[in-house]
Amino acid sequence: MADKKFELTEVSSGKKAVLPFRSGTLGPDVIDVASLPKEFDAFTIDPGFGVTAACDSKITYIDGDAGVLMHRGYPIEQLAEKSSYMEVCYLLLNGELPGAGQLDKFTNDIRHHTMINESLLRFYNGFHHNAHPMAMVSAVVASMSAFYHDTMDIHNPRHREIFAHRVIAKLPTIAAAAHKHSLGQPFVYPRNDLSYCENLLHMFFAVPCAPYIVNPVAAEALDLLFILHADHEQNASTSTVRLAGSTGTNPYAAISAGVAALWGPAHGGANEAVLAMLEQIGTVDNIPKYLAMAKDKSSHFRLMGFGHRVYKNFDPRAKIIRAACHKVLKSLGQTNNPLFELALKLEEIALKDDYFVERKLYPNVDFYSGVIYSALNIPRAMFTVMFAVARAVGWVAHWQEMIADPAMRIGRPRQLYTGPGKRDYVEIGKR
Ligand code: ACO
Repeated sequence: MADKKFELTEVSSGKKAVLPFRSGTLGPDVIDVASLPKEFDAFTIDPGFGVTAACDSKITYIDGDAGVLMHRGYPIEQLAEKSSYMEVCYLLLNGELPGAGQLDKFTNDIRHHTMINESLLRFYNGFHHNAHPMAMVSAVVASMSAFYHDTMDIHNPRHREIFAHRVIAKLPTIAAAAHKHSLGQPFVYPRNDLSYCENLLHMFFAVPCAPYIVNPVAAEALDLLFILHADHEQNASTSTVRLAGSTGTNPYAAISAGVAALWGPAHGGANEAVLAMLEQIGTVDNIPKYLAMAKDKSSHFRLMGFGHRVYKNFDPRAKIIRAACHKVLKSLGQTNNPLFELALKLEEIALKDDYFVERKLYPNVDFYSGVIYSALNIPRAMFTVMFAVARAVGWVAHWQEMIADPAMRIGRPRQLYTGPGKRDYVEIGKR
């Protein structure tokens, strides 16, 4: 809207400034506040970045009120039904769906980067067997920067492309090595004849002393979960990758920062927390007690997997995963899965409760994903690692978009200082 303008008035002085509006292809306009310090000697403040756009982006669009999620314009429902994780990776990175030849080449490029340096593999021995896998994964991903530093020029598009392939290809290997380390089992090398998710399951569950055949139902279920987790615009971990990357740091280090941000229970760590919560609730009779705790602010207990900063209607990913749970559990012969039954009942009861209705708190992507991971025998501590593997492509796509943008600047928020005013130093003996 070319003629739309926003006028800001400082009431006491009557001073006015006209702030430009900018419109995207979809979604709310943004007000460009860059001139505020000059016009009014003022910054804006928005703790938690609830209403602040940090960048322009062409990758993912969310309409939280309508429950819409689209990657490069394609609705998540269509991608989940018709696409594959590899195809979604290509789409996120390149902006368009690939042709058959392009998809083959891309898949092949990923396949040929699945091994990790043997020295990197030795890092795992430094961890105690019960180290949380997210700690191992973030440390090993950060350590990749040591292996690819001199050969990584962030301004070279080909280097950026190889970086993308390496991150997507090696994350399953790094995740599986963390899993094997915690079990005390030998590391299983990747197999390039398998698909992305088949290979991940092979590295997780194969042992050298027995044949292992990947269950196609499991690989398909994982592929679907990975599509649903691949990107989610400027979420906390992606914004972390962008912020770290904006300093020009080694991009593997920036991805490691994203892994760290994802780990928290308010973000990707919620999938692990949901399972812990369901196990704690135990039976349907206990649901009212836990709902009462979730509503009581002094309890510090939240209904994990419920609520979202952006979705104030259903999270479309949760809808797809809930439907997939029925299908996957049936295919795996686990129709009477007590955790899934409990989760369904918890959702039903919570969505009738005024507290959750008024605050528009619905199940998010993490509410049901753990049910599928558990059914695939992936241990609870590995759930957030799975999320990190799938989200790596989103982090890389956003990092690439940012670095390729000539307008990129270091990310550097301002603050409202509330500490003491100027005062003079007092010698230690006089304090
Ligand atoms: N259980 C109980 N109450 C909740 C919950 C919840 N899960 N989520 C939000 N609320 C309440 C808040 O207490 C607040 O109530 P109030 O208005 O009376 O003070 C209100 O709903 C708004 O919540 P905020 O915390 O202000 O919402 P915000 O956008 O900052 O937080 C978040 C979003 C972090 C996802 C929150 O809903 C939450 O903690 N959920 C549980 C953790 C979770 O599932 N995280 C995964 C998110 S999806 C992802 O990152 C992949």
